[in-house]
Amino acid sequence: MTTESTGSAAYWESLWAEGRRYRQLDSIETSLLEKHLGPGGGRPALDIGCGDGSLARRLGQLGYRAAGVDCSPSAIALAAEQRAGPGPDPIWRCMDITTDDLGTLTDPSYAVVSCRLVYRWMDDKAAFIDRVRRLLAPGGTFWVVTEIAGRRTVAGPSQGLGITPEEAETLTAGWATVRTEDMDVLRCYALRP
Ligand SMILES: C[S@@+](CC[C@H](N)C(=O)[O-])C[C@H]1O[C@@H](n2cnc3c(N)ncnc32)[C@H](O)[C@@H]1O
Repeated sequence: MTTESTGSAAYWESLWAEGRRYRQLDSIETSLLEKHLGPGGGRPALDIGCGDGSLARRLGQLGYRAAGVDCSPSAIALAAEQRAGPGPDPIWRCMDITTDDLGTLTDPSYAVVSCRLVYRWMDDKAAFIDRVRRLLAPGGTFWVVTEIAGRRTVAGPSQGLGITPEEAETLTAGWATVRTEDMDVLRCYALRP
């Protein structure tokens, strides 16, 4: 049983180390990713909270020069032991995106910054988004996949996994374009400055 705060690296590390895994990317989500991000053409992409690395590997397959960061050493180890297939593997780094020096990342800015099933867990969502904005290249895209509160019909602990309308408003405020796609309990956001 874990007792650490959900915002802490220790909390996530204990979940990964004890075998917890998260919803896999499926063909619908992958095609939405391709539709909104397009081919990478060698441009840099950063997946925040990459977990076992599935999304970062997919970005690499789209032609992005991908990097994945996660605060859990076990997640990063899991990501690093899997091969992406043709093309270069993503670069993996263990870091806390909310506190660590962004200057230690692979690139000063990224054509794509993504976070999948991560935004919900950021304690200070506005501060997190500010840091993402600092990392986005001009014309870049912030790709967010998150559960939306109230969409689960079956009662249980998973009902708390969605973001509230206020948290959605914090996410989408101040971008030049906001595009969304809905997939059952999840929503994808393509946000451009
Ligand atoms: C629900 S999991 C999702 C993992 C992966 N994105 C996926 O879709 O399977 C949330 C991930 O975010 C990571 N995470 C949470 N807070 C973080 C932070 N401040 N910095 C870096 N990674 C973080 C956790 O370690 C965990 O791997």
